[in-house]
Formats: sequence, structure tokens, C-alpha cells
Amino acid sequence: MSRSFVAAIDQGTTSTRCLLFDRDGRMVSVAQRPHQQHYPRPGWVEHDAAEIWRITRELLPQALDDAAVDPGEVVSLGVTNQRETTVVWDRATGEPVGPAIVWQDVRTADRLGELTDHVDESWLAERTGLPLSSYPSGPKLRWLLDGDPALRERAQAGELLFGTMDTWLVWNLTGGLHVTDVTNASRTLLMDLRTLAWDPELLACMHVPVSMLPEIRPSIGVVGTTRHGVPGIPIGALVGDQQASLLGQTAFDAGEAKCTFGTGSFLLLNTGTEIVRSTSGLITTLAANAEGEPATYALEGSVAAAGSLVEWCRTSLGLIRTAPEIETLAGTVADNGGCVIVPAFSGLYAPHWEPDAQGTVLGLTSYIEKGHLARAVLEAVAWQTRDVVDAMTQDAGSAMAFLAVDGGMTANNLLMQTVADVLDVPVIRPMMAESVSLGAAYAAGLAVGYWSDRSVLRSHWHRAAEWRSEVTADDRERAYAAWRDAVALSIAWGR
Ligand code: G3P
Repeated sequence: MSRSFVAAIDQGTTSTRCLLFDRDGRMVSVAQRPHQQHYPRPGWVEHDAAEIWRITRELLPQALDDAAVDPGEVVSLGVTNQRETTVVWDRATGEPVGPAIVWQDVRTADRLGELTDHVDESWLAERTGLPLSSYPSGPKLRWLLDGDPALRERAQAGELLFGTMDTWLVWNLTGGLHVTDVTNASRTLLMDLRTLAWDPELLACMHVPVSMLPEIRPSIGVVGTTRHGVPGIPIGALVGDQQASLLGQTAFDAGEAKCTFGTGSFLLLNTGTEIVRSTSGLITTLAANAEGEPATYALEGSVAAAGSLVEWCRTSLGLIRTAPEIETLAGTVADNGGCVIVPAFSGLYAPHWEPDAQGTVLGLTSYIEKGHLARAVLEAVAWQTRDVVDAMTQDAGSAMAFLAVDGGMTANNLLMQTVADVLDVPVIRPMMAESVSLGAAYAAGLAVGYWSDRSVLRSHWHRAAEWRSEVTADDRERAYAAWRDAVALSIAWGR
């Protein structure tokens, strides 16, 4: 049999990766490069979409070259992306009209009512599955258009296009195809969860001209062929990164879940074809669906700050020189010394949805040293996971038997032990912990029959490590009470 591979572009919050996978789901090549993070004002986070495209178009041939793979040997390409990040560009020139507003950005937080024409929040949640918050892309788009009458005029005239990063990259890769998929569209606050179409009432209340919007496609199914980067590769899948990792973890069936620790952390529970409404502060979202198949859904607990908290310790505080050092530093002390950190850099997402919450560090005394802060950082990531797991348990009506984890931060053994300690359920990491990229490749491969169906993919999943709680129930509950107090203070401080 001749050689063949599937490719994935994984466009994340801090970097872009291009990867190749073989039929056994083995990664045979990866090329990766970070892009600039811009913080022009407190709470604002921007990316340069042109920079991200430049990086992507260079990385794709590099990934092939590094593994001596011929473009003709790549049968399909999957694009996965940071979701909600909002790009607007000129239809004729392809130039972005300004910086991309990143999902973490909170500039819309204090104007959400105005940006949605004061529509009833519960109606919005019923139709879209999303709480009214600074997180989705629709209000970001309206903020851009409202802020510049000339821009709005060009948008009304059909001269401007909107997209999240999947759309922006596919538009550039294909030389003008304007599409998105259901998972990304479900994060805009503009799509009806049930019809999987742009909703005229939502568009009207966010004042978004329909001519700006991409066509919504299933996640798995060929949308076109690349003309740039590496020409001639079928684009077999578009899928938001968290839904991609659900595939990468082979959580194909209702009741299966995963938690990805990346820039933020995201727990998704597959609910099958049923739209489950959360009463506990979770999002109802789309899971990846294939052309011709019914839509499937998921409950999501989105946490805005996980890896970004470690990154802040590195770049803004100079506490560590590399991200993995946070584990070494935390290991220099036995406990947090009484220090608790709530990383509400983008307000607090699930299950609180408090856009004005402010980050807090509590319990500082002259006893506290760097190691205690590092420990409090890891504990903050763990406790935020506990908050969304508790919400999931309440919504699903049953406790999770274990937590399947993935993402870069799962290499941090102390963090994973802490997650097991605070959850009191086993935490399990697969051999291939880059589930986002793998899931994008799976989606792309399924689209072209590279893999006959999802069941063959399950054999690629192998358990690499497992952590179980090592703390007493009393200690756990005492620490949880301190965390809850700290969260309450972080919310109160923002009011
Ligand atoms: O919703 C935001 C999410 O898609 C970002 O993912 O992996 O870049 O933290 P990540």
C-alpha cells in the first residue's frame, strides 16, 4: 500500500501548529510557531490575523518537508482553531480591517446589554446555548462595527467579511472560500442551536449584516481544496479546538467526556443528539458532526485561565523562565502556605459567568515565597476544574467515574495529582495528549474515508498515566472552602 497521511492545522491562542498523522494515529511531523499577544489596554487581548496566516502558510510546507512527505501523499487536511476570536477583513483585498479580538478579551463586558439590544438573556441562552458574556464572537463583531461608522457602512455594502480563525485560514488557504463549521458557529451567539443556521432575530439584535457571515458547514466533510501553503490538499474538516479534542480522545458517544488544559481549560461532555440545557452555569454547544449525520451536542465547562496563568507568571512576573518550571518551583514547598490565587483575568467563566470578577491573590504574609505562589497557581487550575466538574455532575445527574485529560499542561505531574486530589476521581492521560490536533486529523481522515468509521480510532487510544487522590476528605473540603471564599471575594471586588 502506498504511503498516505492526514494533515492538521491547529491554530491555538498562543501558537499555530501544522502536523501530519499516519493511519495508526501516530504523529509523524509537527512544525510550530508562536504569534504575538497584544494587550493594548487592561482586559483587551488582540492578535494579528495577517501574522497568523503568514505563520500558517510557512508551517504547512515545513511540516511536510521535515517528514519528507510529498503533497500528493496528504489525503486530507483538518483545520482546528481557538474559537470565538473575531476577525473582520476586506472581501476584495483580503486585508484585516484591524486587530482580531481574542476570545479572552473583556472589552464588551460592561456593554453586553447594549450590544444585544437588551434582549432577554434566557431567550438568548435558549436559542444559542450560551450565557450573555464577553466570551462569544457576536458582541465582539458588533463592538467593532459600532465603533466605526465607516466600517459599518462597508459592512452594509457587503465589502467586509467576518470569521473566526477557521474561516480566516480556510479563506486564505483556498483563495476565497468563506465557510465555517457548526462548532465554531455555535460560539458566535448568532446561530440557532436547533436549526444550525444563522438566526435572523439574533442577527437583528446584534446588528450584523448577513452578507458578512460565512456559510455554516458540518465539521466533517470536504469543503474545498488548498491553493496556498501547500496547494492541492482537500480540506476535509473544520472544527473548534475543544470539539476536536473530544474526537481526539475518542469520546464519540453520549456520556463520554474530556478536559483539555491549554491556554484555558475546557471540559466537554458528549450528550449525543440531545440538547441538554444546563441549570448549573455550563454552555450547551455543538459537537463535531459529519455531513449527512444528525447533529450531536455537548455540555461545556469553559475556564478562561489555565496555561495563561502560568504564562503570566513567566512573562509578567518573571517567576519562571519556562512553563514546565512551574512544577519544579511548586515542588520546592509542601503546600500553598495559605496563599490562594483566583485568575479572573477575563472575569470568571463557567460556572460563574462573572465578567467583572477581578483576579485576586489572598493570604500573603512574609512567609510566602515563590514556591507557594507556584503551588497556588496549580491549585487554581485544579479548583476551577472542580467547579466545572461539580456543575457537570449536577446537570448530568450522575458523577463522573474518571476524568480523561489532555493538552500541554497534562505533562505537569504535580498539576495532575492536584486535579485528582481536588476531584477525588481518577485522572487519566492518554499516550497522545495532543488531542486537539489528533482530533482535527481524525475529522479530516473520516471525511475522505482514510478511516472507515470512528470505531477503528478507538484502538489508537492508550492510557499513559493515571493519578488518584492522595488527600483526606477533610483536607480537601477545608481547601475547597478557602477557594470558594476567594472566588466570592474576586467577584465582589469587581462589583
Ligand atoms: O474557546 C477558546 C478555546 O477554543 C481556546 O482554546 O486551546 O487555545 O486554550 P486554547
